[in-house]
Amino acid sequence: MRPEVEKFKTAILTISDRGARGERQDLSGPALKKRLGEDDRFAVIVEKIVSDEPSEIEDALVVWSDQKVVDLILTTGGTGFSPRDLAPEATAAVIERAAPGFAEAMRAESLKITPHAMISRAISGIRKLTLIINFPGSPKAACECLEIIMPALPHALQKLAGDPSDCGS
Ligand code: MTE
Repeated sequence: MRPEVEKFKTAILTISDRGARGERQDLSGPALKKRLGEDDRFAVIVEKIVSDEPSEIEDALVVWSDQKVVDLILTTGGTGFSPRDLAPEATAAVIERAAPGFAEAMRAESLKITPHAMISRAISGIRKLTLIINFPGSPKAACECLEIIMPALPHALQKLAGDPSDCGS
């Protein structure tokens, strides 16, 4: 534990029509939370399930970013090719600065695991002082992608919070 250092406050937004209707238990949000919980630099303080409706996705992202509720938002689901997969569009509508490196890294490294990685249209970007990153919807895919970006996340969030120190590497 690092009690002297404030943890990165994190939100997890599960995007699923069936999950929002209670017809399916979505496992990717809990899987992401479990993995982040293993790292004492992160605290998942809010979780929500919304439908694939862009307005619902946008509302959650805007409230959590503009009220400075969290430093980091992970969305899971809705990044593929189905007609209702609109997480990237909803995210693009609310971000103020692109931060494509996270989505690029996830796709590039995931392609070494499965060619299906190219089907994810996930994006990443910044609104106010909050970093927003889309993840695919299966627990396996979401956890693989989180593992890929974990090494860069703390430094990114420190910089976003205004840390003026030089980058070591
Ligand atoms: N990325 C990783 N690392 N591992 C995976 O198994 N599955 C892919 C892709 N990205 C996958 C992955 C598949 S099968 C799909 S359809 C897309 O993510 C989009 O998923 P989504 O629509 O649930 O967001």
